[in-house]
Amino acid sequence: MSFNFDERVERYHTDSEKWLKYRDRDILPLWIADTDFRVAPAIQEALQQRVAHGVFGYADDQGALARATAQWAASQYEWSIDPDWVVPLSGIKPIFSLLQESLLSTDQASVCTTPIYPPFTHSARAAGREQRLLPIPLFKNDNPLAMPLPALMTQERLLFICNPHNPGGKRYDRETLQRLADYADTYDLWVCSDEVHADLQLDPHSRHIPFASLSTRCEQRSITLLSAAKAFNLAGLGCAVAIIPNDDLRARLRRAIAQRLPVPNSLGVVATLAAWQEGEAWLAAQRDYLRLNRDRLVAHIATLPDLQVATPDAGFLAWIDASRLKLTDPQRWFEHHGLGLTGGAPFGDPQAVRLNFGCPRSRLDLALTRLTSAIDSL
Ligand SMILES: Cc1ncc(COP(=O)(O)O)c(C=O)c1O
Repeated sequence: MSFNFDERVERYHTDSEKWLKYRDRDILPLWIADTDFRVAPAIQEALQQRVAHGVFGYADDQGALARATAQWAASQYEWSIDPDWVVPLSGIKPIFSLLQESLLSTDQASVCTTPIYPPFTHSARAAGREQRLLPIPLFKNDNPLAMPLPALMTQERLLFICNPHNPGGKRYDRETLQRLADYADTYDLWVCSDEVHADLQLDPHSRHIPFASLSTRCEQRSITLLSAAKAFNLAGLGCAVAIIPNDDLRARLRRAIAQRLPVPNSLGVVATLAAWQEGEAWLAAQRDYLRLNRDRLVAHIATLPDLQVATPDAGFLAWIDASRLKLTDPQRWFEHHGLGLTGGAPFGDPQAVRLNFGCPRSRLDLALTRLTSAIDSL
């Protein structure tokens, strides 16, 4: 079966945050992390059937969603998990501050890599906890995730990683994960591993490695966050999971989650089940499409000496260093040239921008033309 990722799907009338930001302006929306692709036919059919039924009470998310998560983890990551370890979520973002409040006393702190998807660092402030940042040299080609790991104080108890990494799309290889596992052992850290971009490995031969899958010790100190939202473009449907193998930790977090978060959206559960049970062929085709988009983007940026890109191994987000342009606000400047990118400042690098290449190739090509004319105009 073939799938059409070249189709330009009009999104304004769907309340798309990505598209409404630039409504009536000639600016290509290449910012927030959803793609412009229509979902897999199996997902659309499952949703249509569910909508036709017409009753939308609370979903019994535990049984089917937990079993589907275990099957997906086994088939995609060779990670064998017990469905009982799965805690359903209505989204990932609120978990970052909830973990800090639940696992850290007010004088304890978390550790997080930088640059990073902003909710990781914002959540420490929201939870009133200190956070130490570990800088990752993302624009270095030789395994940029093999960052220096500093000695920690006793108050640091929770490590956040994002694998594959947002921004930058770098995947953690086994050696890097093992270093992080040793680090977590040395300082006795809980590890929250956000793996929502796991299923978008662009190299056909690379397989995602969950941090927790390294060993039983890693499992016991970990909270793994997963969802079908990025790989299957379901971000608006409110469904994700946390995999928490440690019984006490899981019981504690289950209680905190039940008090603070709604249960997953029942349509999100339907869509996630269809994605994980019937979406593999569509996902493989999307990866092929994204790989060509990635290669086209990286090759184009190589012709622009003032820009440098951290070639993504996974996902549809490219992290671009614009520091050689010596602009005060690169995001604003690219916007004036018709490109709606995400600014790097909230991620920890004001001289970088993030470009979402999860779009039809014709739109990407227009973006690349605009990128060149923006640079030429300097
Ligand atoms: C690494 C990462 N984690 C979490 C999220 C957000 O997840 P959710 O929409 O389920 O809160 C995103 C969205 O871009 C992300 O990139």
